[in-house]
Amino acid sequence: MTPTGNSPKILVTGGAGFIGSHTVVSLVEAGFEPVIVDDFSNSERSVLDGLRTILGRDVTCYSANCNDAAEMAAIFQKEGFSGVIHFAAYKAVGESVQKPLKYYRNNLDSLLLLLELMPKYKVSNLVFSSSCTVYGQPEQLPVTEQTPRLPAQSPYGNTKAISEDIIRDTVNAQVPIKALALRYFNPVGAHPSAEIGELPLGVPANLIPFITQTAAGIRQSLTVYGDDYNTSDGTCVRDYIHVVDLAEAHVQALRKLSESSDEASYDVINIGTGRGETVLNIIKTFEQETGVKLNYTIGPRRAGDVEQVYADVTKANQALDWQARRSLAESLRDAWRWQQKIS
Ligand code: WQD
Repeated sequence: MTPTGNSPKILVTGGAGFIGSHTVVSLVEAGFEPVIVDDFSNSERSVLDGLRTILGRDVTCYSANCNDAAEMAAIFQKEGFSGVIHFAAYKAVGESVQKPLKYYRNNLDSLLLLLELMPKYKVSNLVFSSSCTVYGQPEQLPVTEQTPRLPAQSPYGNTKAISEDIIRDTVNAQVPIKALALRYFNPVGAHPSAEIGELPLGVPANLIPFITQTAAGIRQSLTVYGDDYNTSDGTCVRDYIHVVDLAEAHVQALRKLSESSDEASYDVINIGTGRGETVLNIIKTFEQETGVKLNYTIGPRRAGDVEQVYADVTKANQALDWQARRSLAESLRDAWRWQQKIS
């Protein structure tokens, strides 16, 4: 897809990351012109090659720090954006407990800078990458956007909750920004081309990359963190959403903001499948879909894990005219195909 001169330019901070890169693909496919700003602190430049292969063209990418005011102002000045999707953030829950100031400084400063630059350069549409982690362990399931946020389980989660409040308060002060905070559940899988996917640095914290690395023989064995929860098979329940479904939700969010005639607005929307899956069922489905037997043991619970969380997606269906279309089996097949490609 070659960009037409008037394709609306969208700033995608963290656009070389896992969700960011998949969203760049969906943006181009929807007729937008994404411009990536990424400091490559948690992503690899090879992602740009993957994007070029999928799209058949280069995507503009600035290697820059989203906290650098002069650099970001120059990019806003030069590019003339129609909207912003803000992914750039540190996201390792465990590391955030060890280094809270690194997380508060990086994740909050980059948002504050964007909120100052957007009105200055007449950019009003903002899609913000938030997380279901703000719910903690919800009382009711599936969890709706009306469910009260609980105190964050980690500084990482707290940066997401505080960021939502910063955007809300900015909009309430009539700063001309229309914003949607998308609360992701568990993004998994990879682009079906296997040209882009998840690139966890070091030992994966998340379940699916640990499963695929175990299946590839990179890890000896998977530990299931606890089977004594009050769930169907004793293991934790999560809402695993294909990363391409998640990417498409961002495009829909941008479209809805562009269509809105509001001067300023703010809303939060859950982005999940609406289905909860246990860890053991993920393992069973992976084995069925790939034919690979997984070596796993049951270990103790992981500190900070919530027992069950999965989304009520009614609002996303209605407000974004969007729903997840890919199955768990497809997510796991795509994740495995990507792992085989990079192994
Ligand atoms: C899923 C389940 C583990 C690894 C994280 C972030 C959250 C959000 C989504 C960004 C849990 C179990 C895992 C393993 C296991 N990210 N597990 N063995 O913790 O739900 O959420 O990703 O917004 O902020 O915290 O995802 O993949 O780490 O764990 O048994 O080796 O798999 O206990 O029940 P989580 P996860």
